[in-house]
Amino acid sequence: MGKSKVLVVGGTGYIGRRIVKASLEQGHETYVLQRPDIGLETEKVQMLLSFKKQGAHLVEGSFSNHQSLVDAVKLVDVVICTMSGVHFRSHNLMMQLKLVEAIKDAGNVKVCRSL
Ligand SMILES: NC(=O)c1ccc[n+]([C@@H]2O[C@H](COP(=O)([O-])OP(=O)(O)OC[C@H]3O[C@@H](n4cnc5c(N)ncnc54)[C@H](OP(=O)(O)O)[C@@H]3O)[C@@H](O)[C@H]2O)c1
Repeated sequence: MGKSKVLVVGGTGYIGRRIVKASLEQGHETYVLQRPDIGLETEKVQMLLSFKKQGAHLVEGSFSNHQSLVDAVKLVDVVICTMSGVHFRSHNLMMQLKLVEAIKDAGNVKVCRSL
């Protein structure tokens, strides 16, 4: 199978960290969205650094900054969204729609999966 450039959104989550690991293991060029919103959350910062050590690229991007999402999406051809953690399902969907808008504006993504 050919190799892809993969962006994982929600990469430090339970599912996301497993997707990052699998993507790296399968030799895909792997990008992980690094949200400034996480601040100094030690566990997340350490996990992101460990992804970087394993060969992933960290890309800064925020759901409150459309252009930053477009710029992140433009780097890849596959987007896997494993975000959650937003209390209301409707809010979670609104957040995911922001990613969909960024993917549409970027115009280069071939595959997009959301869990
Ligand atoms: N856990 C399971 O067994 C399981 C099974 C089947 C399906 N799922 C589905 O898989 C998805 C992920 O589940 P999970 O268990 O991995 O969730 P999780 O551990 O809570 O991780 C979700 C990730 O979403 C990101 N996130 C949290 N709040 C956010 C916000 N306000 N804005 C943007 N991103 C935010 C965070 O990633 P960053 O900080 O890295 O951005 C967080 O680590 C969900 O849709 C869930 O329904 C989970």
